[in-house]
Amino acid sequence: MTDLVNRPRRLRANQLIRDMVAETSLKVSSMIQPYFVCEGKNVKLEISSMPGIFRESPDSLVKSIAKDFELGIKRVMLFGVPETKDAQASSALGEKSVVNVATSMLKDKYGDDLFISADVCLCGYTKSGHCGLVSGDKIDNDSTLPVLTQMAIDLARAGCDCVGPSDMMDGRIGEIRDGLDDSGFTDTIIMAYSAKYASAYYGPFRDAAESAPQHGDRQSYQMDFRNRREAFKEVALDVEQGADIVMVKPALAYLDVISDVKTAFELPVAAYNVSGEYAMVKLMAQQGYADEKKLTLENLYSISRAGADIILTYHLRDILRHGWLK
Ligand code: PBG
Ligand code: ZN
Repeated sequence: MTDLVNRPRRLRANQLIRDMVAETSLKVSSMIQPYFVCEGKNVKLEISSMPGIFRESPDSLVKSIAKDFELGIKRVMLFGVPETKDAQASSALGEKSVVNVATSMLKDKYGDDLFISADVCLCGYTKSGHCGLVSGDKIDNDSTLPVLTQMAIDLARAGCDCVGPSDMMDGRIGEIRDGLDDSGFTDTIIMAYSAKYASAYYGPFRDAAESAPQHGDRQSYQMDFRNRREAFKEVALDVEQGADIVMVKPALAYLDVISDVKTAFELPVAAYNVSGEYAMVKLMAQQGYADEKKLTLENLYSISRAGADIILTYHLRDILRHGWLK
């Protein structure tokens, strides 16, 4: 006889037991589906690097979201892909801005039945493709803040429930909070992209949003992936300045950071399962190297296990369509 007392395998013997002792769950109510909104009418173009994800005009987006709503998607994040870009990112502002047009249409139709969040950043709207205004060969922090603030106010006015500043300029959360409050939008939620790393995993997104920097890179504002403790500093600053939700981005290569932030702060922690992470799964599945459902769930459960309360993921529609969580 063996003297083995501890046999962890006992609790793995069958599905009923495994489900009983599972430590982590994935909730559809904690997942957000991103969308790309472009100008025009009746436009719906699949993004080649992101199979199943489209760039759509507002009218088409409303139809797509109606279908997704039936599937169970009630929380969305919108990104704009405007026709015109300039040095001042002017197409990000005003009620004619693509995201504001789409948001008003969606809010009129759904009211509080649809949670609408939108990205606050200039890279989709500037000629330079940078997240802030360019001055000489620098990205100018302080002159960018009023533009981001105005963008957030206009989004709130159009009906966004939540704004997500993803620009990584210093001090933007405080400025945006002040601006929203002064304009009467005291209830608009700020989901701050707090620990956003300069990542090669954003490649497919930049395709989708046509937002690749035309010169240089984003390393003077996004975080260096060699740094872990620095994330505490970034998150603490955003919390002090009034963030309601803090985000770590990307997710899969940064599970340690998600875990740190979850342990050190009381706010809900969001994780962005980014475009490159999505594309890797799609490519592996297409090549037959792995099963798409298994890869997707393993990734998302791991992000949840690390401590994410909220997950932004392009996979949500597939999960619901195929009933992968049933
Ligand atoms: C804009 C923004 C980016 C993403 C979200 N907001 C791209 C970037 O910073 O280059 C990436 C999302 C993704 O890759 O899915 N600043
Ligand atoms: Zn940006």
